Amino acid sequence: MLGASARRAARARATASVVREALWRTARAWSTATTTGASGSATDEKSRGVNERETSSSSSSSSSSSSSARTASFGYEDVAYDDKEDLVRGVFERVAPSYDVMNDLMSAGVHRLWKDYFVSRVGAFAGMTHLDVAGGTGDVAFRVLRALQRAERDAELDGQVLDAKTRGKVIVSDINPAMLREGMKRATTRGIAQNQLEWLEGNAEKLPVEDGSVDVYTIAFGLRNVTDTRAAIADAYRCLKPGGKYMILEFSRVENDVLRSVYDFYSFNIIPKLGEIVARDRGSYQYLVESIRKFPPQEELKSMMQGVGFRHVSYENLTGGMVAMHVGYKDQA
Ligand SMILES: C[S@@+](CC[C@H](N)C(=O)[O-])C[C@H]1O[C@@H](n2cnc3c(N)ncnc32)[C@H](O)[C@@H]1O
Repeated sequence: MLGASARRAARARATASVVREALWRTARAWSTATTTGASGSATDEKSRGVNERETSSSSSSSSSSSSSARTASFGYEDVAYDDKEDLVRGVFERVAPSYDVMNDLMSAGVHRLWKDYFVSRVGAFAGMTHLDVAGGTGDVAFRVLRALQRAERDAELDGQVLDAKTRGKVIVSDINPAMLREGMKRATTRGIAQNQLEWLEGNAEKLPVEDGSVDVYTIAFGLRNVTDTRAAIADAYRCLKPGGKYMILEFSRVENDVLRSVYDFYSFNIIPKLGEIVARDRGSYQYLVESIRKFPPQEELKSMMQGVGFRHVSYENLTGGMVAMHVGYKDQA
């Protein structure tokens, strides 16, 4: 007899087959446009206004006396600054069991290409310490671990001797234990070796990670959910070793007007509906779509990274800017 989650998965697969064909036609065309370089982009005025409000409040986040007056955007809603973390936590607690199925469904599997490309730019090397923040169910971390293991096999073939102390490791961190639990289950069913993988609960704004201890820090589709974006970028800088690499993969601003209208139509009309049918949770997917529009677009995020101290900051648009990959480096000591 099928359990509730198996029935949900079966329903998802059925729905997927209906929408897949239509989505795939569009996604295939978009996904070929993987790189357009770091060209400047016009800023969406509506989203800029909200982000500036959030950013300016973030920059004064150290003054706790005014904390009750501050607001943060939760999708299109302005909520009390201190409430956002719990609201986001609630979203991911609710979506955790159907998170992976919904990712495939909403993007027709294209999120896998984005993540493959992102991890191909990590530059894994033997002995590295990798931190994947807002790692959720482990999609990025599993890929990085495979890349690390390949790099270490190559190093050993070249005569390097590696032992438990000198081997690298991948830390998956997330604020939400429900997402980490799903990730651990997936790791077990995939036979992923646990000895190089650590699971760590923590807020990206202040991670329980030693200063200057990480070679590469990744955050994929996580930064827009954090209440204080600037604090999370600053904490990444703190965690990294001198010369360490910071990589963000996040939904961004579609540059082509026609593509943006199609994407907006799809986002606001289809995604919440899919959430309702598959995950029985329209609200969480409505938040997802809205939070994407509120996140700083390409150039603004680049400036935020530079403002925190990152050097050689650049970005690449994937799928016409639907997603952007930002990379920056911590100064050498
Ligand atoms: C859209 S999921 C992305 C998961 C994964 N990186 C991926 O690409 O599939 C966003 C994740 O961000 C986590 N998150 C939200 N706020 C966070 C915070 N302040 N600190 C750390 N993680 C957070 C959520 O729990 C969720 O797992």
